[in-house]
Amino acid sequence: MNYESHKTEHDALVRQVLDVQAKYRGGASGAFSVEMMNFLQSCLVKHITGTDKAYTTFLNGKGVK
Ligand SMILES: [Fe+2]
Repeated sequence: MNYESHKTEHDALVRQVLDVQAKYRGGASGAFSVEMMNFLQSCLVKHITGTDKAYTTFLNGKGVK
């Protein structure tokens, strides 16, 4: 994945967090917030264990441990 694609994923995650924040501040119920936080958590885990993890071999090859 190149920089622009990776940045696009990060930007989308940030938008999702800001959307949840706005809904929460707008009076969304606690249950709704828990549901959204579970969704965001799954997105973050998917990104970190998928997209970010894909950089492991490259970075290790550059001496990053
Ligand atoms: Fe990332």
